[in-house]
Amino acid sequence: MSSILILGATGNVGREVIKHLLNSGCSAVVFAGVRNPQRAIEGFPVHKQLKFRRFDFEDQSSFGEALKGIDVLFLLRPPQIADVDRYIKPLLNYAKNEGVKKIVFLSVQGVEQSKFIPHHKIEKLILAMSFKFVFLRPSYFMQNLTTTLLPEIQEKGSITLPAGGAKFNWVDVEDIGAFAAKVLCNFDVFSSQTFELTGLQNLSFQEVSSLIQKKVGIKINYRSVSPLRFFC
Ligand SMILES: NC(=O)c1ccc[n+]([C@@H]2O[C@H](COP(=O)([O-])OP(=O)(O)OC[C@H]3O[C@@H](n4cnc5c(N)ncnc54)[C@H](OP(=O)(O)O)[C@@H]3O)[C@@H](O)[C@H]2O)c1
Repeated sequence: MSSILILGATGNVGREVIKHLLNSGCSAVVFAGVRNPQRAIEGFPVHKQLKFRRFDFEDQSSFGEALKGIDVLFLLRPPQIADVDRYIKPLLNYAKNEGVKKIVFLSVQGVEQSKFIPHHKIEKLILAMSFKFVFLRPSYFMQNLTTTLLPEIQEKGSITLPAGGAKFNWVDVEDIGAFAAKVLCNFDVFSSQTFELTGLQNLSFQEVSSLIQKKVGIKINYRSVSPLRFFC
């Protein structure tokens, strides 16, 4: 029976991946790699195939135990883990030493043209270290509306971003989770491939705000600001 370790297990994508793995009839044992197993256990359904291991990107002493006996690693880079040489490279070295051969990496759409984002470097590293790989490159998460953008929506009824009228392709993390689970459970079928995971529509923030108003009656003012004003 194969063993799969899911990093970022308590986040938007990780939760969906685990849900779909457990509900799909996949026979693998699923390990959730989490900073605080005690706390994480409470947030997941009891399931005989789901186990928890302590894992912290910022604590290398947790890597060996978390990776022991793992066949497939689902690698997700948490948003605040930006230094690839400091956090991801050592993890991949540990993975090699522990005999992990297969990695499914949650990357991002457009990574091939964005040389300065960490995902670009991580993909290159995985290839250079000769892991068997699958790269998942999702577009813009719909769930940004209910996570990172939510406080401003709730407090001020607005979204402020330096996005102008640009159209984004919106994807539901539920769909990412469903596909990632298929890939993790049937790795050899998908090995050495890269998949862009997208939704069906390209919509600007203005259009999404209008849609929300039409569907649920809540008015959200989209304000586009200059990048300088937004980031400084
Ligand atoms: N947002 C988008 O539109 C979009 C689009 C394409 C790709 N992506 C990529 O998707 C990834 C983010 O996925 P997400 O939205 O699922 O993330 P998320 O909801 O922010 O979850 C982050 C996960 O990482 C865990 N984590 C944070 N710091 C950790 C540490 N030091 N050690 C171990 N685990 C740690 C968190 O666990 P705790 O519970 O312990 O905090 C949580 O499970 C990023 O790489 C991003 O670039 C995002």
